[in-house]
Amino acid sequence: MPCSFSIQYSGGRSSTVHVGPGVVDGLPDLWRTAWREAAIIGDANVIALHGEALAGKLRIRGMRVEVIGFPPGEGQKTRVTKEKLEDELLGRRLDRESCIVAVGGGISLDVAGFVAATYLRGVPYINVPTSLLAQVDAAIGGKTGVNTEQGKNLIGAFHQPSMVLVDSRFLITLPPEEWGNGLSEMVKHAVIADRDLFQRIEARAEELRTPVSIDEKLLQRCVEIKAAIVQADEREAGRRRVLNFGHTLAHGLEHAQGHAISHGRAVAIGMVLEARVACSLCGFPAEEEQRLRRLLLYLGLEIHPPSLPFDRLLPFLAADKKRRGGTLHLALPSRIGEMAGAEDGYAVAVPLDLVQSASEMRGCSRRGPP
Ligand code: GLY
Repeated sequence: MPCSFSIQYSGGRSSTVHVGPGVVDGLPDLWRTAWREAAIIGDANVIALHGEALAGKLRIRGMRVEVIGFPPGEGQKTRVTKEKLEDELLGRRLDRESCIVAVGGGISLDVAGFVAATYLRGVPYINVPTSLLAQVDAAIGGKTGVNTEQGKNLIGAFHQPSMVLVDSRFLITLPPEEWGNGLSEMVKHAVIADRDLFQRIEARAEELRTPVSIDEKLLQRCVEIKAAIVQADEREAGRRRVLNFGHTLAHGLEHAQGHAISHGRAVAIGMVLEARVACSLCGFPAEEEQRLRRLLLYLGLEIHPPSLPFDRLLPFLAADKKRRGGTLHLALPSRIGEMAGAEDGYAVAVPLDLVQSASEMRGCSRRGPP
């Protein structure tokens, strides 16, 4: 059964979220009359698959719909791509009464959302995530942006989507690699917020390994977790930091590898490394660290860092240090379902040598059921 709810932000802003198979078919009815034109934006692969189908749904309303693609890949998530998209929109004379429909995985949503944040000083947009990873993470919470040479997502804006349509039918054609990326983020949601969800993922791990269909209840729960966190702390002053569990080291790995490793895979490795640090610093039980590793392995995710000397990660971690008063801070769990450091805004100060020893340890590599 589809479900709908609203995320409330300060100043009366809100995002309406619809989750369920087929919710995208409701787009023409959900469309607001104030939005007189539409631009559908996504990477070229996604636009080839879904662009015209989405446009067709909106053209039923008798309005102009432009469909604009950009080259796929993390390497295209740049200011140059954003500028080209803006020039396209200006060239096609989309005005302030337009609404952007961002369609695709995290890269498409981040870039199209950033364009929406600044085009004509900001226009509304709708997120239509087509990957599992984007459905449980990037589509919710209004973080938009692009990468630079210095790191991921360093230039961007908070700009909340007016609507998010999480339609599990898009997942049917998802490649296995993409599926694993989403599973990794679902496990993260469970570790940071919901012990029961972790057990449910463990119980369904066998079927989750195959990208055939998703348990709608698991998907809904992950979307709800993300929504509750961003509603509590839109600008990442505290609680929202818990979403970074596994991500600081993941971003370092991705950056050091020139994005040769996918985000979800890097997050799985990052979670395992950060869980080891949590064992030392936050009383995260060693048996729960084993449980986490077993689940990730069984879901088909690699958990050992690629042969990457720690000193390749250091510049990235040092840059992160600078951004937070000279000390590296991580979001770390105290047990599955609970995060440490609530009193310090969920940012635990971590000595670099502890990260180094965590990254040098080898652990469980058993691939049996969790
Ligand atoms: N993806 C992390 C966040 O939305 O804060």
